[in-house]
Amino acid sequence: MLRTRIVGTGAYAPEKVLTNLELESMVETSDAWIRERTGIVERRIAAPEQASSDLATAAAERALENAGITADQLDLIIVATVTPDTPLPSCAAYVQAKLGAKNAFAFDLVAACAGSLYGLSVADQFIQTGKVKHALVIGVELLSRIVDWSDRNTCVLFGDAAGAMVLAPGNEGDRGVLSTHLYLDGDAAGILHIPGGGSRMPASPEVLEQKLNKVHMNGREVYRFAVRALQDSVRTALQANGLTAADVNHVVAHQANLRIIEAVLSRLDIPLERCHLNLDRYGNTSSASVPMTLDEANRAGALKPGDVIAMMAIGAGMAWGSAIVRW
Ligand code: ACO
Repeated sequence: MLRTRIVGTGAYAPEKVLTNLELESMVETSDAWIRERTGIVERRIAAPEQASSDLATAAAERALENAGITADQLDLIIVATVTPDTPLPSCAAYVQAKLGAKNAFAFDLVAACAGSLYGLSVADQFIQTGKVKHALVIGVELLSRIVDWSDRNTCVLFGDAAGAMVLAPGNEGDRGVLSTHLYLDGDAAGILHIPGGGSRMPASPEVLEQKLNKVHMNGREVYRFAVRALQDSVRTALQANGLTAADVNHVVAHQANLRIIEAVLSRLDIPLERCHLNLDRYGNTSSASVPMTLDEANRAGALKPGDVIAMMAIGAGMAWGSAIVRW
């Protein structure tokens, strides 16, 4: 079996910044509450004319440039998103066309905030078996379009962005993706969901009026679930590779909430300083979060050859997972 390497990263965030202070004039909240409970200070909001494929394409172009390959060298594109441009066809279809990636088959993958790790795992299987040489995994969300801007429980948390990773078979010993572990508990689907707008409750004046086409969340339940699930999956991943917490040089975590990250890392005995953080600037960008954070660390020159990176993410489903990568 071949070993998959991450050979390029890229990210894109829209220009418009929405600060906690601005949110104070939109809902009954405060900068102090948001900072204290989440660690978020500001987030980005897409321009009205932008759709997910626009953000995804911008991140992908940067990742391709970083990898030193052209779009026509891609064999596979996976777009992890819950906010495709249209219900049909996939967001991946628009991205493939915009990139001019004529030789790639492409599809969307829905695993909410865990989407980019699910995508990494799926692409890894194609590369390990030799079926695919170059794969592009994108996490993109325009959460500002599916958030109820009058619900202070959710609207303060999210932001719009895209992150991308280019994957290819490696030939440098054990450098690359060492493992991926994916999980889902559908019994917990109700704690974070969009009840309407699908086949169960198609879009209708009632659905729109009751805002059933927007994100509904039980924050406390999500918090509890996330802390337990993330620590279990990272522990399992480290054990599977014969590694301990001390071997982890970097944590690239889904940036949902600083308190979730702190709780997970303290239970795993991994110092918070090893975790790359950007949720203060971008908020929770769902599937974009992990590849965007990886890109920041990569471009800052923080990742040295041979470094061990523990990735973890969780989102609606509840779907979660971890990946261990030797850079
Ligand atoms: N501003 C001010 N007050 C607020 C706000 C707000 N934006 N939102 C909620 N409150 C109020 C609540 O109404 C509640 O008031 P009450 O006591 O009068 O009822 C009070 O603050 C405390 O609410 P809690 O829900 O107990 O606050 P908590 O400390 O749990 O923090 C939070 C809420 C930040 C949502 C937390 O539960 C959390 O982070 N959960 C995880 C959710 C998450 O990250 N979701 C992202 C999607 S899933 C993912 O990416 C993993």
